[in-house]
Amino acid sequence: MLCHRPSRRQRYGSLAGKTIIALTKTCQKGDLRMASIAVSQVPLLSLNDGHAIPQIGLGVYKIIDHQVEPAIHTAIEAGYRLIDTASFYGNEEQTGAAIAASSVPRSELFITTKLWNDDQGYDQTLHAFDLSMERLGLEYLDLYLIHWPVPARDRYVDTWRALIRLQKESRVRSIGVSNFQPAHLRRLIDETGVIPCLNQVELHPALSQPALRAFHASLGIVTQAWSPLARGSILHDERLVTIAARHQRSPAQIVLRWHLQNGSAVIPKSATPARIKDNIALFDFNLDATDMRMIDALRTDCRTGADPDTAH
Ligand SMILES: NC(=O)c1ccc[n+]([C@@H]2O[C@H](COP(=O)([O-])OP(=O)(O)OC[C@H]3O[C@@H](n4cnc5c(N)ncnc54)[C@H](OP(=O)(O)O)[C@@H]3O)[C@@H](O)[C@H]2O)c1
Repeated sequence: MLCHRPSRRQRYGSLAGKTIIALTKTCQKGDLRMASIAVSQVPLLSLNDGHAIPQIGLGVYKIIDHQVEPAIHTAIEAGYRLIDTASFYGNEEQTGAAIAASSVPRSELFITTKLWNDDQGYDQTLHAFDLSMERLGLEYLDLYLIHWPVPARDRYVDTWRALIRLQKESRVRSIGVSNFQPAHLRRLIDETGVIPCLNQVELHPALSQPALRAFHASLGIVTQAWSPLARGSILHDERLVTIAARHQRSPAQIVLRWHLQNGSAVIPKSATPARIKDNIALFDFNLDATDMRMIDALRTDCRTGADPDTAH
């Protein structure tokens, strides 16, 4: 996804009116150095609607009330520009307050929120979007996602039509989905003709989902990893610790770098200032093919979260 057109210079897109250009030959080799970096060091990935998304963001799920603002403040100071929240997380208000208090202009930030399962359906979605925007205190949203497909309720196509309308009305710049399986994606596309720009899915070395990532790539959909660190559960694995020691990095940095070199976007969560900073300090080292293969070998296909086919 990082390099759809490998043979020539690629326009990565623009954020805050700044166009970021990268040499695709460079990133084809898995080297994420950018020819020109505006604002922060984080590369932007092109979305299929002409917008672009930072490859790293801060996830704020389970960051408790009074810790949300300081965590977002630390993240923005460290160079994060993307914040990932959801109505389900119950912290859209605190996220909005942190954005309002930030010294970085709104136009340089990329804010994602998500529509919760109980709010699926065309009219319900439009209403839930208004409530999210009120809580966030924003005039426009960068990315709105359907949180889960919930196939048992069979409302995700109507929900998607509402997102298409919100995008047409310029209330949201980009629209996508989360936890969608290939069958759910195919149905959305077949019935509406609009391809989501991104699918946010559980993704980490234990659940590396190569087939799903390839499917996304074939449709120009950005893969964004939730629980990119498997909620910390894999960070003590000896193989990761060995690679980390060789690079003089933390195991978390090794895992995040593996995601970036695979072309995925990541939204690690941390409420710990030192970890928030570590999780974005990823641009002065590279994993080689042996490292990548060793991390690929951690695959067990075990989920830390719910199964998208049955979650409700
Ligand atoms: N779309 C969905 O259905 C969905 C589902 C789940 C999550 N998400 C999104 O994805 C984001 C990330 O997922 P997640 O929170 O489940 O899991 P995660 O980012 O894989 O892991 C978070 C856990 O790892 C710890 N951690 C973070 N950085 C670390 C480091 N450098 N070294 C050691 N431990 C570290 C955190 O602890 P501390 O906070 O204590 O530092 C926390 O316990 C969420 O915040 C949310 O935005 C989306």
